Amino acid sequence: MSNPECIIEIESLYTQFGDHIVHRDINLCVYRGEILTLIGGSGSGKTTLLRQMLGLEEPAQGSVRIFGNDRADASFNYQKKCVHGRSGVLFQQGALFSALSVFDNVALPLRELHALSEDMIRDLVMIKLDMVAIGPEHANKMPAALSGGMIKRVALARALALDPEVLFLDEPTAGLDPELSEGFVELVLALRNEMDLTIVMVTHDLDTLVALSDRIAVLADQQVVVIGTLDEVYRFPHPFINSFFKSIRHKIEQKNNSEQTWKTAPMLS
Ligand SMILES: Nc1ncnc2c1ncn2[C@@H]1O[C@H](COP(=O)(O)OP(=O)(O)OP(=O)(O)O)[C@@H](O)[C@H]1O
Ligand SMILES: [Mg+2]
Repeated sequence: MSNPECIIEIESLYTQFGDHIVHRDINLCVYRGEILTLIGGSGSGKTTLLRQMLGLEEPAQGSVRIFGNDRADASFNYQKKCVHGRSGVLFQQGALFSALSVFDNVALPLRELHALSEDMIRDLVMIKLDMVAIGPEHANKMPAALSGGMIKRVALARALALDPEVLFLDEPTAGLDPELSEGFVELVLALRNEMDLTIVMVTHDLDTLVALSDRIAVLADQQVVVIGTLDEVYRFPHPFINSFFKSIRHKIEQKNNSEQTWKTAPMLS
């Protein structure tokens, strides 16, 4: 079988703000169709790395290639153009424009195309709102009138407005209570299947991490110290990983033990 395609490929990436080195020689491949989660302490450079993948920030050194562009042209401006319109993002801060209604928030990326009639925009916005389970009765509301869970859903609808191939989620369940958070996770899983999405996510929330991640990359000591499945990552000896997974260590072990029992149990006839 051929190797999975890297939809995003980061090579020898360095990031520096003044004297502060945030990333040192980061190499990373995001496979098409996977959900890759970035974890790391506060300030380890997770959001910055997402912004670099989105072409919003240029690394000090190294390259970010997206959608398999020709290696010959990995220039920042060229990559930036390639990302535009083919990716959606749910930012960590300020999920919606507070001065715009729900409808106008979701319509914004469609209007920016300058290619669609208002009728088409209206239909597309309603489809996207329906996908995230926001009824038409909420379309004219302002963000201040929505609950935290609804705001996240509308922001997700906006991120999906252009039918992106890659979706970036920065702390998508932060601030949601466990029930809303679980609902959001289910929604992301359903949309991922429906829309064939590749997702790059940042989260501190263990339940979200466990429920969604195909692979996890750990940012620490300015580098990706390990990348792999939950099982591979959680076994990796590193102080950040030890403390991050402490509270669910027993859950992972229970899960592993029951899978082991399941695999080795004789078939019941
Ligand atoms: N534009 C900037 N100018 C100067 N320093 C910056 C800039 N953007 C980010 N930084 C610094 O880079 C480091 C990484 O920031 P970043 O926001 O990527 O961290 P993070 O891992 O997302 O943290 P958190 O978990 O708190 O969201 C931080 O020390 C931050 O202060
Ligand atoms: Mg961040």
